[in-house]
Amino acid sequence: MSEKIYEVPAAWAKKAHLTDAKYKKMYAASIKDPDKFWAEQGKRIDWFKPYSKVRNVSYKPGKVSIKWYEDGTTNVSYNCVDRHLATRAKQTAIIWEGDDPSESKKISYGQLYTEVCKFANVLKANGVKKGDRVTIYMPMIPEATYAMLACARIGAVHSVVFGGFSPDSIANRIEDATSEMVITADEGLRGGRKVPLKANVDAAAEKAPVKTVIVVKRTGGDVAMKDGRDVWYHEEAAKVSGHCPPAEMKAEDPLFILYTSGSTGKPKGVLHTTGGYLVYVAMTHQYVFDYHDGEIYWCTADVGWVTGHSYIVYGPLANGATTLMFEGIPTYPTISRFWDVVDKHKVNTFYTAPTAIRSLMGAGEEPVKRTKRKSLRLLGSVGEPINPEAWEWYHRVVGDDRCPIVDTWWQTETGGIMITPLPGATRLKPGSATRPFFGVKPELVDAEGKVLEGAAEGNLVIAESWPGQMRTVYGDHKRFEETYFSAYPNKYFTGDGCRRDADGYYWITGRVDDVINVSGHRMGTAEVESALVSHPMVSEAAVVGYPHDIKGQGIYAYVTLMTGEKSSEALRKELVAHVRKEIGPIASPDLIQFAPGLPKTRSGKIMRRILRKIAEDEFSALGDTSTLADPAVVDDLIANRQNKR
Ligand code: WTA
Repeated sequence: MSEKIYEVPAAWAKKAHLTDAKYKKMYAASIKDPDKFWAEQGKRIDWFKPYSKVRNVSYKPGKVSIKWYEDGTTNVSYNCVDRHLATRAKQTAIIWEGDDPSESKKISYGQLYTEVCKFANVLKANGVKKGDRVTIYMPMIPEATYAMLACARIGAVHSVVFGGFSPDSIANRIEDATSEMVITADEGLRGGRKVPLKANVDAAAEKAPVKTVIVVKRTGGDVAMKDGRDVWYHEEAAKVSGHCPPAEMKAEDPLFILYTSGSTGKPKGVLHTTGGYLVYVAMTHQYVFDYHDGEIYWCTADVGWVTGHSYIVYGPLANGATTLMFEGIPTYPTISRFWDVVDKHKVNTFYTAPTAIRSLMGAGEEPVKRTKRKSLRLLGSVGEPINPEAWEWYHRVVGDDRCPIVDTWWQTETGGIMITPLPGATRLKPGSATRPFFGVKPELVDAEGKVLEGAAEGNLVIAESWPGQMRTVYGDHKRFEETYFSAYPNKYFTGDGCRRDADGYYWITGRVDDVINVSGHRMGTAEVESALVSHPMVSEAAVVGYPHDIKGQGIYAYVTLMTGEKSSEALRKELVAHVRKEIGPIASPDLIQFAPGLPKTRSGKIMRRILRKIAEDEFSALGDTSTLADPAVVDDLIANRQNKR
């Protein structure tokens, strides 16, 4: 692993919100007296009724309960919109860049207020009340943001479903959240291709009926409207006023549910609440991106993921920032698109995923170098470990050796960034997420839960609570406790492995559970397996990750067919299509190996460790195979392994 060090550029140390000395002082204070620290930080948002209690947290098995600022009241939409009106009504809140480079627009805070209020009034007029769950299945258009903020405004709980998910996945999420309304668009547009969003919602609603579907017109494509259920947003919006009072919400009232994959079962509904979440995302957005008034900030994520929630919508808007929202993809119409957009809108901060960097790297330097990128001052990375080679390329080619890179480690569950460099304070080591953010107390533990000191490698846990932490798994608090607080009592278990070096820098090594990270997207191996075995010809399936040059990890599936069924190329294609239909394109297996048998213990448990090693090409490291019921299975697997990358 690279140990090259990048010093803080002198100009940064002078102008940034934080220097190394300030970081150390504030970090020490945040750990020594969290109540005092967070009491102060809570003031960065406006409260209707101030809080007197700051932290009320128990990680005790069977009694896990997490509350921040619990007696305060506020409203997230008020904080992201109304409170800026006095000083920023004319300032751009959102720059929207369409899939087609000829399409873009700017939405001021004044306009944002009217749009959010209208959307909120449309929700009310269609029966949505405080506490109701609203499913949002939208392309990357400003209306997605309006819809989220409109829910927050009236106290409804949104559940955004990524636009790449299949009708079945939407249906599961509608059912789990018992949501009666879906907000969608006629079609999405990505890389010049249309995405049939409304048709997908129609198919989902066959399985999970809803009372109302609000449809935003994006492409004007022909879609079926069901009488009594479907309404056009523009028609509804024409009937309502542009003012809607923000509901007074308790700090611990739910703000949103976001489904994410775990090691077992169906995706979990991660629940985030109001006050602590907003304080945490606003604070991290300001410090990690060293945000200063007037800057143009661009996070390339989709609002369907937590990165989009926290760092396209809530964090930036709470800070009165200008946030760029991009509908398209990095390679359309040309492979220079990201950098063209940077030049077009004079972007100062650019935050993306390593997978994007690795795929652009493949096309060489010229598509980057033909653009200017003079406005860039800071680069960011999120979603998966960034390999030092990609880091160096990002730094040298994209950032012209001038822009620090913040490699931010966090999770859907953590709400906001947890381990990260701070650009004016932290010397960088390519591939390391470096040091903890304020209030975050990471620890490394071994399998027995022993806390490891100094330079060490182990499982990453967080010893204290922080305001952005998830509060529960929606509708299943027991699963919340079991997943995150049972492996290591009194600590939050992240599911990640991690190394700490002699300088106290953290290096995330990847998941230690049955979750794989494909192009920065979390995928539960159990989900893909259950999609595969739902095919009538499949008897058994085991899915593991393997190293993939661009995606980080690829999906490797071992499939055993029903007796009498024959493997073929056609069947392989059919199985990939089947998984895409069941979950969505992001879950497509990269490689499928037909296996007459899977390695099992005598008690019938699949030995995934062996399957992982075979997929990783590490045949010599299979370890102990003596507990296998039939060792010959392994020889067959090795002989027929699929080629990769
Ligand atoms: C991984 C995305 C290394 C990690 C915000 C984590 C990372 C999972 C990094 C969460 C990083 C995220 N370095 N690994 N900078 N950021 N991860 O919930 O395995 O989609 O547990 O949240 O992504 O993925 P999620």
